[in-house]
Amino acid sequence: MVKTVPVSTTDVTFIDLTSEDLARVRDLTETVWFSVTPGKSLQDLDDEVDLRHARGAVRAGGPLPGEAEGAATPLMAFYSAFDMGLTAPGPAGELQRVPMDGLTFVSVHPDARRRGVLRAMMTDHLHRVHDRGECAVAGLHASESAIYGRFGYGCASVEAKLTLGRGTELKAPAALAAEADAVTTHVVTLDGEPALAVLHEAHLACAGTTLGTVTRPEALAQRWFAFTDHPKARGSKEPQRLLLARRDGQVSGYAVFRRESRWEAGSPAGEVSVAELGARDDATLLALARRLVDLDLTARTTFWSRPVDDPVAWWSGGPRGGGMQLFDALWIRLVDVPRALAERGYACGAPVDLVLEVTDEVCPWNSGRWRLQIDGDGRAEVSGTGAEPDVVTPVAALGAAYLSGRTLLSQVSTLGVTERAPGAVRALSRAMRADREPVPAIGF
Ligand SMILES: CC(C)(COP(=O)(O)OP(=O)(O)OC[C@H]1O[C@@H](n2cnc3c(N)ncnc32)[C@H](O)[C@@H]1OP(=O)(O)O)[C@@H](O)C(=O)NCCC(=O)NCCS
Repeated sequence: MVKTVPVSTTDVTFIDLTSEDLARVRDLTETVWFSVTPGKSLQDLDDEVDLRHARGAVRAGGPLPGEAEGAATPLMAFYSAFDMGLTAPGPAGELQRVPMDGLTFVSVHPDARRRGVLRAMMTDHLHRVHDRGECAVAGLHASESAIYGRFGYGCASVEAKLTLGRGTELKAPAALAAEADAVTTHVVTLDGEPALAVLHEAHLACAGTTLGTVTRPEALAQRWFAFTDHPKARGSKEPQRLLLARRDGQVSGYAVFRRESRWEAGSPAGEVSVAELGARDDATLLALARRLVDLDLTARTTFWSRPVDDPVAWWSGGPRGGGMQLFDALWIRLVDVPRALAERGYACGAPVDLVLEVTDEVCPWNSGRWRLQIDGDGRAEVSGTGAEPDVVTPVAALGAAYLSGRTLLSQVSTLGVTERAPGAVRALSRAMRADREPVPAIGF
């Protein structure tokens, strides 16, 4: 589909892309991100980009000074997306996996910036996701937190970074520590299909029991670490490794980590960086964390992408000791409001029956009134209605509350959620809460 989008000072046309366009994609992304991965080939880029969901923007007009006559017009913008899965709250304390479109590579050429190209791009993307009908929810990581709220995204999970010194004692209740002692862990080098298949199995197993998890697309599972850990870009650093946990013979957790060798004043001072840490249960989490803070020749371990209620932080004495830092993590956008609200579950208890009025400029099909009926088991039905609203909300507030990491009630003051019937916001806010904080999403 080719669609021309008028933007304020120039016209760009969004086009589908093929492998023939990868050189243009590389030129644009290297210009926008001013970063080059040594050794990365067009074939690597081809592996990394899901061309079914990739779109480019070309400008109207002939070549500019310095551009070759007859050469393909440079891309002015580019985006791509992955087919991912998201672990959302399910009914009555369970979890529910929902499909999620994960936007990535969002890039606008410096010559075209601040003329509305991103706005046109987001409209193009969200309308296409809606037209495809595969996902009711879209997600992304933001390079800067001020960008995406205006397009109806809400920040749904918060990422904590934690650094613990080598040998930090992780104090857990005795019963849990005894369970952790029964978990076995071993190190696997991520250098071939069997190891990557085991990693993907662990990744999916942990996603089923961990709120907020975003899963890699099945089709890319074997190649994902090739593009996040390119051998030529890595230089002398060790490749990423897998620490695999087993409990009762079953894979119960994993960590993806890398050590960086360093010596200070004749003593080992290596650093461990843990990019992903997943566990089906807290005993496995404890066993993995204990190994990761006690690797030989290292001085400290940094855990990235931890939830704000991370047990590892509390086992180590609390967030202060680990110098916890917080960042916005996954931004969620409801592309199809009634379907997205019906796909997740709610807390069990008193049934909720209310009318939401949703405002949504970018996806107008969401704007309007929706009756949300949640039964005592936490299952919802959503239907259009003409009845007077109990709650008026921008679509971004529903994205922010989707994983329960931020309550709907708190968005009365932050995103302008408005109550029309007394107690309605609190009732829905409580129904949307889960028992644990969501983990932040993997990088994508
Ligand atoms: C961020 C980027 C995509 C914006 O593209 P753009 O075409 O300049 O954006 P637009 O002109 O369509 O701006 C749309 C709106 O977003 C705002 N905006 C754009 N970039 C912003 C930023 N970095 N911070 C805050 N607001 C921003 C604009 O002011 C405008 O606001 P308005 O609608 O209220 O007037 C572009 O600057 C870029 O490629 N940056 C480097 C790569 C990057 O950060 N990509 C995002 C990856 S998640």
